[in-house]
Amino acid sequence: MFKKSSMSRRRLLYMGVSGLAGAIAVAVAKDRLPIYPSQAVNNLTRDFKVAGLTPLKGRATAKGLIYGAASGQDFLASDKTLQASIVRECGILVPENELKWQFLRPRPDVFDFSKSDWLAQFARTHKMLFRGHTLVWYEQLPEWFKEVVNRQNAEKFFVEHITTVTKRYAGQMHSWDVVNEAIEPDDGQKAGLRKSPWLEFLGPDYIELAYRLAAQADPKAMLVYNENALEYSGRKEEVKRTAVLKLLERLKSRGTPIHALGIQSHLVAQEGALNAKKLRSFLSDVASLGLKILITELDVSDQKLPLDPAVRDRIVASVYEDYLSVVLDEKAVIAVLNWGLSDRHTWLSTFTPRSDGAPVRPLPLDSSFKPKLAWNAMARAFDQARKR
Ligand code: G3I
Repeated sequence: MFKKSSMSRRRLLYMGVSGLAGAIAVAVAKDRLPIYPSQAVNNLTRDFKVAGLTPLKGRATAKGLIYGAASGQDFLASDKTLQASIVRECGILVPENELKWQFLRPRPDVFDFSKSDWLAQFARTHKMLFRGHTLVWYEQLPEWFKEVVNRQNAEKFFVEHITTVTKRYAGQMHSWDVVNEAIEPDDGQKAGLRKSPWLEFLGPDYIELAYRLAAQADPKAMLVYNENALEYSGRKEEVKRTAVLKLLERLKSRGTPIHALGIQSHLVAQEGALNAKKLRSFLSDVASLGLKILITELDVSDQKLPLDPAVRDRIVASVYEDYLSVVLDEKAVIAVLNWGLSDRHTWLSTFTPRSDGAPVRPLPLDSSFKPKLAWNAMARAFDQARKR
């Protein structure tokens, strides 16, 4: 039973252009649903009708967009239905973990490309684009990293890693998340930079160095700065958007070879309030720097939604459609990738499981690889998007 939720004044103010009129609690037979971002509120009556059965990649391509998903090599190599679904729906593939230090660097002097090469080959075989994630991150560093890397040798490891990995896939990569999640204003560092071994050992210029090294190793790849928690209209997100924009402006002013911003888009149904006006203006500010934008890790957590899968699917689909209708309105947005394609393989099962233990349902295909309303919502968003 949901306690009657009253929308605070602040939350009402955050409803944005979609208007407050929509923010009316919709009572369903059993429960009074908490109030969701306005356009998701009418999810129980919303029509998610889609014309035809064209897969998502076809609908995206028709508008000059690229659609795809992340997958782990272990799942993809062992799950034939996942393979068929990825090939059917996706025009681009990104390794979920296999191009991170944790996987590539079993020992300080050893690179292991076996899993990433398998994924690159899978993409090639099925004529899919391939994108890299991620050359520089503060997370998923190998066990030995802490004992071995220090102020004296950090630059050697940094240069060697970026150069070796980028060179290996040179010419095959649509794009690289060169640096991932380098901004965290709560860390109290200059320019809102996140505390990390890279900042500690190499200073703030590590970011520019990373892009110059990657451009040298693969002049063809689109070089992306990838960031999380930019989507909603809370104070924290607002501060982060400002810091990211300033970082991009700084890099561009120095002639850094950076070509796009990746907005991860890990959305949470019921939690974040989407202020269409604020998000739209951020996207246009990024585009005005001459940068493209990729939606790089889209999923919608249903962790806080009611148990009933039918109700959850409708609300998740509403969040997908609301969010994509805003971001795809910006023509600099060139690609949308889900972080996983099917509920059978999602990081959210482990990272944010539901308290009732029910399997989570954040992605376009269910755990039997059947399209859900979220699939319809994405298909509709692509169908309604302006052609690039
Ligand atoms: O491979 C090891 C395995 O050998 C070991 O037995 C097992 C138990 O510890 O761990 C396995 O590694 C796990 C790895 O995923 C591969 O499955 C790590 O523990 C686990 O932490 C790691 O989680 C990944 C997470 O990044 C790490 O922060 C998720 O799969 C991955 O989906 C997630 O992806 C990130 C993006 O890279 C950046 N944006 C946020 C996104 C979600 O956190």
